[in-house]
Amino acid sequence: MGAIIALHSYKGGTGKTILSVNLAEILKERGKGVCLLDFDFRAPSLHVLFKVDSAKYWLNDFLEGKCSVQDFLIDASKHMTSPEGKLFVGLANPSSDAIRKMSAKSRRWEIRALGRLLSLRSPLFDDMKLDYLIIDTSPGLQYSSINAIVSSDVALVVATTEASDIDGTRRMIHELYELFDRRTEIVLNKVPIEMLTSEKKKRNFLKKFNNLYNIPTMGIIPCFCDVLAAGGTYIFAKEKPEHPFTEILNELTLKIESRFLPPIERLSDPELLRRYRETFLKKVTGIYMVDGESCQ
Ligand SMILES: Nc1ncnc2c1ncn2[C@@H]1O[C@H](COP(=O)(O)OP(=O)(O)OP(=O)(O)O)[C@@H](O)[C@H]1O
Ligand SMILES: [Mg+2]
Repeated sequence: MGAIIALHSYKGGTGKTILSVNLAEILKERGKGVCLLDFDFRAPSLHVLFKVDSAKYWLNDFLEGKCSVQDFLIDASKHMTSPEGKLFVGLANPSSDAIRKMSAKSRRWEIRALGRLLSLRSPLFDDMKLDYLIIDTSPGLQYSSINAIVSSDVALVVATTEASDIDGTRRMIHELYELFDRRTEIVLNKVPIEMLTSEKKKRNFLKKFNNLYNIPTMGIIPCFCDVLAAGGTYIFAKEKPEHPFTEILNELTLKIESRFLPPIERLSDPELLRRYRETFLKKVTGIYMVDGESCQ
């Protein structure tokens, strides 16, 4: 039985995409079956890394109900070094037209899209026998990101040490994540190395963030110039397996493997979906949406 992991953040640029891709790559190299979805319909990016310009079907089409799982998933396991690992990728349509259309979707559409997302469990985990679905989301409180969080078994919130990110992340955890009762952990990324130069500094750093967010910290990743210099042109963990960035991500995947299988709960359960609708519509839209659009 597989697990769904959503990577999310309050602010943009915290490292969700790079972490999603590299975690997927490392799990695949360990022989796991992984599906990676680009749920950042606002600014798709995985098509660049996987060098796909055009496609008959995108993840957007699946969420629209226009195609099946097999139609939009791309097998990225080519040139595999591990005998059993698999990596499938579902890409968001990067055309301006598609981006505009996705940002104009109604709440009703988003709820149907959630149903489509939840329906992926069976083909991915039961039929294709994959172990993980990793979802790279948009930052902030986009509906698509909320859908990804709701359908996940665990949400990883990727945060930096910037004051505005800390403030927003803290509020987001208390005001949004707590509504969904989702298992959530923080990954602190791009941490200035000066904050981590001794064991004592590291301990104080961890204590500070544990107190701030009141949820577990899964990992602390320093800011590495090498990662920045790679510019998202290749999968870092694949090209630089000995680099400390890759080593830290190796540790993260071990934590993921030991903690999150089997899944904590199954949201394909209609009762949970009903709960989602109620919570989502009454509370979250009440808090974050003010356009008064009816969802019934
Ligand atoms: N630990 C790190 N050290 C140095 N650079 C990093 C690190 N993590 C991420 N970056 C860089 O930060 C930039 C943003 O990363 P990425 O695109 O993964 O963020 P994101 O959260 O997906 O952004 P968005 O919210 O726009 O989707 C990239 O240039 C990436 O290489
Ligand atoms: Mg991204």
